Amino acid sequence: MKKVCFVCLGNICRSPMAEFVMKDLVSSENLLIESRATSNWEHGNPIHHGTQGIFKKHHIAYDYQKSSQQISYQDFRDFDVIIGMDRNNVADLKEMSRGRFDEKIFLFVDGGVPDPWFTGDFDATYELVKRGCEQWLARLRNS
Ligand code: 4NP
Repeated sequence: MKKVCFVCLGNICRSPMAEFVMKDLVSSENLLIESRATSNWEHGNPIHHGTQGIFKKHHIAYDYQKSSQQISYQDFRDFDVIIGMDRNNVADLKEMSRGRFDEKIFLFVDGGVPDPWFTGDFDATYELVKRGCEQWLARLRNS
């Protein structure tokens, strides 16, 4: 079972979007998919209503109980693939883990996913996240 974790700054907008879009794409794969934050700023808070709106619009099942959780050292050990949603997330992940897990830390898509917390454009985020998840699924299936 391959364990995959999507990570963004707050774990309320982009990484939960990637988590549930990916879960929606995956059928019988041997994949465990979760998401985390680099920060503790939104700790315990629910998925942003903009991201929940995207799930409803596209009929993507998600966990209403999911709340923001900061990535832990144990997470760095446990997950096989840790995917930062933008370059800052990747840099923060590498710094937080002091270079010990660089081989399992990746950027989600070239250029990263702009933060809808700032852009307000959750539809544009969804298009990038969907395409990125499809590419990651193909990559994970081939590895
Ligand atoms: P996310 O978006 O990293 O995609 O979950 C953000 C959520 C919260 C904040 C920033 C970005 N914040 O500043 O609290």
